[in-house]
Amino acid sequence: MKKQFGTRAAHVGKKPVSALTRPVAMPIYQTSVYAFPDLDLVEAVQSGRERAYLYARNGQPNAEALEEAYAELEGGEAAVSAATGMGAIFAVLFAMLEPGAHAVISRDIYGATYALFEQELARYQVERTYVDASDLPAVEAAMQPNTKILYAESISNPTVQVADLPALAAICKRHDVKLVVDNTFASPYVMRPLELGADVAISSATKFLGGHSDLMAGVAAGSKELMETVRRTLILNGAMLDPFAAWLTVRGIKTLHLRVERQCANALGLARFLAEHAAVEKVHYPGLGAGNALLPHGAGAMLSFEVKGGQEGANQVIRALKLAEFVPSLGDVTTTVSHPVLTSHRAMAPEQREALGITEGLIRVSVGVEALADIIADFQQALEQA
Ligand SMILES: Cc1ncc(COP(=O)(O)O)c(C=O)c1O
Repeated sequence: MKKQFGTRAAHVGKKPVSALTRPVAMPIYQTSVYAFPDLDLVEAVQSGRERAYLYARNGQPNAEALEEAYAELEGGEAAVSAATGMGAIFAVLFAMLEPGAHAVISRDIYGATYALFEQELARYQVERTYVDASDLPAVEAAMQPNTKILYAESISNPTVQVADLPALAAICKRHDVKLVVDNTFASPYVMRPLELGADVAISSATKFLGGHSDLMAGVAAGSKELMETVRRTLILNGAMLDPFAAWLTVRGIKTLHLRVERQCANALGLARFLAEHAAVEKVHYPGLGAGNALLPHGAGAMLSFEVKGGQEGANQVIRALKLAEFVPSLGDVTTTVSHPVLTSHRAMAPEQREALGITEGLIRVSVGVEALADIIADFQQALEQA
């Protein structure tokens, strides 16, 4: 008997694809759940005897493809993915810390991560000590018997301080503490924290991994054992990545090395230009001068500079820029600028920002893949008008 209209409508579009050829690009598995033929398979999957997809919050093919890609890029045994960079940071921290645990934290970190420590982890009764991560004796002195992690950014936001990860890892080893590194600003093309002794590398894939400002995602990599605990936290937290964003991130990763190689060269060129300009007070870029031995492939695409005239000076430059748009994010193929005091570091007290060199005249630049001469010309005309 022919099924009725509503029944037929509800069951359309289930045609399986041919098994003779395979799609070159991975399909987007836009399904929240998977169908099972009987309870035997349900039990086999639930008990771990068989591996199959069940419910997308527990894992899905596109997220898994991204996790494999990130583990590969960072040199980790395994990786997990999350809906945003903060989702990944949240899951890592809540998986590794419990009430009464202590975290040593670089004071030079992204504002929302700082807020996560000071608001959520404080409520969860995690003790926090902030240190200047470049002051190794201070880092060592901050270690306590209940210290579980040292948290730092490989290249810090926004003053692009490069963490001496091998030295920090050595301190962590001595105190049986795990080193957790946010690698967002560097990207694994520029620096690979796990290869330098860290236990966990995290990235906001919203930035360089995606590369085109069209997705939000977060990833973390480390040992299989550690990533399993992070995944358990993430499954309950629910900040899972959706298949399309995972798919877009994998597509972005394929050109990460090409984009970031060019972006590093452009950033060095722009930093050198800015360092010579009379309207510029100070330039932060690890590739200036003697460079940094931890960055053999380029010093990254991020720089920041302080213009004379404080916030009004910065506002004039931002208004006058034509190519570089004001965008409170980073890692795009185009050159973008941001103002940490009003955006990423808003959650920090003014005195604290001042101590870190995050002044009102500080402009953060995410350097894109455009022709360097055009980028420099844009900043030149903007600084001349300011
Ligand atoms: C260094 C750093 N880590 C983490 C994040 C958070 O990433 P998301 O915005 O994808 O949650 C950001 C965002 O700007 C960042 O700059």
